[in-house]
Amino acid sequence: MAKQEDQFKKVISHAKEYGYIFQSSEIYDGLSAVYDYAQNGVELKKNIREYWWKAMVQMNENIVGIDASILMHPTTWKASGHVDAFNDPLIDNKDSKKRYRADVLVEDYCAKIEAKIDKEVKKAAKRFGDSFDKEQFLATNGRVLGYQEKINSILSRLAKSLENEDLADVKALIEELEIADPLTGSKNWTDVKQFNLMFGTQLGASADSSMQVYLRPETAQGIFVNFLNVQKTGRMKIPFGIAQTGKAFRNEIVARQFIFRMREFEQMEMQFFIKPGTQQEWYKHWKETRLKWHLSLGMGEDNYRFHDHEKLAHYADAAADIEFKFPFGFKELEGIHSRTDFDLKQHEEFSGKKLQYFDHEENKSYVPYVLETSIGLDRMFLAVFSNSLQEEELENGTSRVVLKLPAVLAPVKATIMPLTNKDGLPEIAQKIYKELRWEFNTIIDDQGVSIGKRYRRQDAAGTPFCITVDHDTLEDNTVTIRHRDSMEQKRVKIDDLRDIIKQEVDMRTWLMKM
Ligand code: GAP
Repeated sequence: MAKQEDQFKKVISHAKEYGYIFQSSEIYDGLSAVYDYAQNGVELKKNIREYWWKAMVQMNENIVGIDASILMHPTTWKASGHVDAFNDPLIDNKDSKKRYRADVLVEDYCAKIEAKIDKEVKKAAKRFGDSFDKEQFLATNGRVLGYQEKINSILSRLAKSLENEDLADVKALIEELEIADPLTGSKNWTDVKQFNLMFGTQLGASADSSMQVYLRPETAQGIFVNFLNVQKTGRMKIPFGIAQTGKAFRNEIVARQFIFRMREFEQMEMQFFIKPGTQQEWYKHWKETRLKWHLSLGMGEDNYRFHDHEKLAHYADAAADIEFKFPFGFKELEGIHSRTDFDLKQHEEFSGKKLQYFDHEENKSYVPYVLETSIGLDRMFLAVFSNSLQEEELENGTSRVVLKLPAVLAPVKATIMPLTNKDGLPEIAQKIYKELRWEFNTIIDDQGVSIGKRYRRQDAAGTPFCITVDHDTLEDNTVTIRHRDSMEQKRVKIDDLRDIIKQEVDMRTWLMKM
């Protein structure tokens, strides 16, 4: 656990030191769970968004994008159920005065039991060597089965109490498990209460005429209310999808874990409108497709797993998360929800407008069912960033810190370094920069420190290529290109740089792996 916390602290400080993420309004001591993306962070975030958009919108002829506004008519949120049901169960510790999500306290307790299972697996793998069969071990080992049974029984009781709004039982569960305040160890808890997560504000100037509106807590509703506009103007035939990326706001109770859980964050969502009765098949399709998208980035198959929901949201008939192994364990990265016709029917009822599709093949109108994929852009950023940050022991006995970002996502693709700031080398570096910048985000590093030090800085910043201009360049128009991951250096013609870089950073090559 302490090792995980250390690793996470390194991620946070590295993100600041290398210009990825700053605390919001830091000079005023920051604002809890709100962050700013710095010069490198904004590029990485943009590249993730583009990687998603390309795969989701531009590579699918039946999916289009929109950009709906953050403020929507307040009835939207009444219809969607957010005014009445977008709540988290909160509990306060009477001694520390700290506030927690009651369900998260219980889930964290279970995660600790899960860590014990992982420990047993590692021990057994060491003992049995190559003959170790993990599946069989998990299915037969008495201690592991006992742990798993305990987890299942706790989680199913939690799910049942939350579903029945039995908050007294949630508190009873916390007390029975003797869960303590993670910061102080105190077990002196208040009752559990529900807390609505939407940020409200007033639209209009005068107190009499102003209207209570909300900052949207999800981008999905902007898609639902535009369903018919897009379907008609785009002449879309079912099945078809509408995608968008944009800000969402939630007044999160547990505002920790850096950009994992923020109060202002960005979502990348797609609603896929389908014929009622086909939801099982599309649910399976989108679960597989989204996992393939993640795997195409090469961040390790073992770092992902599905978590099928026991407790379903008020709008879903099936739901699963794609979980990622963050520095603090496996947690939700993306949700895939079969949302039925709940949202469109609700909007029909509250707006009095028909939101139906006329199916020419069936010769009838119906309210489509919806399959949703929803991923947090900031959470994806954290997955990519934390997984990429590595410390490597080198053959010469030294070590290096390297940010092995998938090259397609790296903020800067190449850094050009004149060996010295004289003899015409900076001018050649400028010329290369001016050519490459048309296609790749490129920078020049002409700081007067050694090339070795400059390489290390670029390794830590995540730049896949360094290009060194030296005195031989003056003679033969060649440069040294160094690869971040292998540290291999090659002498190449300046004219070949574009193709060499393109081969590694081109989105097409990466997405073809899907
Ligand atoms: N439209 C469905 C929806 O919003 P959700 O599970 O509440 O479902 C979807 O959110 C995704 O948005 C999550 O999987 C997560 O990646 C991201 N997300 C949710 N709350 C977040 C927060 N407070 N901070 C950062 N990302 C968040």
